[in-house]
Amino acid sequence: MNKKIVVFTGAGISAESGLGTFRDSGGIWEKFRIEDVCTPDAWHTNPECCVEFYNLRRRDTLAAEPNMAHFAITKLQEVFPNTQIITQNIDNLHERAGSNNVLHLHGEITKLRSQKDPSALVELEGWEQHYGERHADGSILRPHIVFFGEDVPNFTLACEIASQADIMIVIGTSLNVYPAASLLTYAPVSAEIYLIDPNEPTLGCYADRVGFIQAKATEGVPALVDALIETYQ
Ligand code: APR
Repeated sequence: MNKKIVVFTGAGISAESGLGTFRDSGGIWEKFRIEDVCTPDAWHTNPECCVEFYNLRRRDTLAAEPNMAHFAITKLQEVFPNTQIITQNIDNLHERAGSNNVLHLHGEITKLRSQKDPSALVELEGWEQHYGERHADGSILRPHIVFFGEDVPNFTLACEIASQADIMIVIGTSLNVYPAASLLTYAPVSAEIYLIDPNEPTLGCYADRVGFIQAKATEGVPALVDALIETYQ
């Protein structure tokens, strides 16, 4: 019951909710150039384009619903209260599935932030940010997103959490983006690591440590959660 479980998710867990992944065929980065919408330079040279990009993704996020994989993780947290979620996703589907203890590494699409104080967040009502609106501190609000090339403020905490894991469950990530992708290396040698993805990622030196479950999230996650409850409850 007191197993420390860390669930590490990427875009793949939200794919069956209808939200695009980034690097699958037809993914987001085939339709938009990262340098146009997700870098500090893009924000400085063409902020309206960035705002429009995140408005479209926010509209899709609010129209989407959590899927059986999100709900299975909530069930896992009910049985194992020490379960912590660390996500690369900016959607709020974990929270809307009833999960708590959700640590976002790359920001949250429902929030905007001051440009003077990155910790000064504002919850956006609805899907549309209007570029030019200002934070109370006078700075123009920006999406609360970690752009490529920016620091990942929550990564240090994420590593501390991962280093305490008895079990790590990795779901729907290509493990392409650092430092997030290195989170696996912080799990203790004694930890059980499971990875759920319909496509086999390149695990390199980790291949022999990871129990790979080749499945879509809505199939693999509920089955693994039930197996862990059966084994450890
Ligand atoms: N169930 C589970 N996994 C799936 C599913 C599904 N139904 N469909 C696709 N996947 C897997 C893909 O096989 C791939 O391994 O999800 C993964 C998606 O990989 P990416 O598109 O690279 O997304 P992610 O790993 O989350 O990207 C990390 O990159 O662009 C940045 O900030 C962005 O947080 C993002 C980061």
